[in-house]
Amino acid sequence: MYNFGLIGYPVKHSLSPWIHEQFMKRADIDGAYQLFGIEPEADLRDNINRLKENGINGFNVTVPYKEKVMPLLDEIDVEAKQIGAVNTVLLKNNQWIGYNTDGKGYVRSLKHYYPALEKERAKKTLLLGAGGAARGIYYALMKDGFPQVDIANRTEQSAIDIVSLNNGEMKSDVLSLEQAENELHTYDLIIQTTTVGMTPNDQQSVISLKNLQKETIVSDIVYQPIKTKILQEAENKHANIHHGHTMLLYQAQYAFEIWTNKTVPIEGLDDQLKLLLEGR
Ligand code: ATR
Repeated sequence: MYNFGLIGYPVKHSLSPWIHEQFMKRADIDGAYQLFGIEPEADLRDNINRLKENGINGFNVTVPYKEKVMPLLDEIDVEAKQIGAVNTVLLKNNQWIGYNTDGKGYVRSLKHYYPALEKERAKKTLLLGAGGAARGIYYALMKDGFPQVDIANRTEQSAIDIVSLNNGEMKSDVLSLEQAENELHTYDLIIQTTTVGMTPNDQQSVISLKNLQKETIVSDIVYQPIKTKILQEAENKHANIHHGHTMLLYQAQYAFEIWTNKTVPIEGLDDQLKLLLEGR
């Protein structure tokens, strides 16, 4: 019997219980996945200790604790340390070990839908946004061997901070959003990581795709709505699109591997999750 959970605030609309319950069924594992909403004024350390007393084998971490949880763990995986955020914690020999599966899960999802990227990485990638999500994705793309990942963000300094993760493994330029719009035709892969376009602001889009080429892949990590304005615009221009909800499944698949050593197949769950989100 496994006991998993999620800490964050708020957590009540999280899709993680549904996802991990599907995984447990598919892996023929007996277990539970509980939500632990920890209010901002509560003592995080007390709450983490209580998880151990309650027999939790592993837990996910979401906003606002991905960074705050780090000093409370016994060990942090080298990648999570570099990214500066933890979204998955494993209890091993009574020690809490922190990992980050967001970026890796994103890259796994992208390659699942665009398997040609496994043989040949996109030559030139543009990351829109420089928040926590962009940081994990940037790091994972670099570790996966993408040769050039540029970042465009409203606040230039945040993009510069992310590029400092680069230890010379890839080429990386920082652009303004306006420059990104003008240079769009030079990119093979565009990844939208800002919160712009998220419900209820689903009529907004962080940049215009007027200069988009039709061979380009446009990916959005926003999953509410399922088809954001930018994805709709990309589709209208006959470009390739990649949906945000699939990242949720693949980051969870990684977390489940860390906890159980089992890799569950995702097939079919993407459509089920899409229906679930559309029904909200
Ligand atoms: P997450 O953890 O999901 O990445 P975040 O860390 O809050 O969220 O980052 C939000 C991202 O969306 C940032 O890149 C932010 O740009 P700034 O760094 O300039 O704040 C971007 N963002 C949010 N609202 C935006 C807007 N109206 N226009 C452009 N970018 C916006």
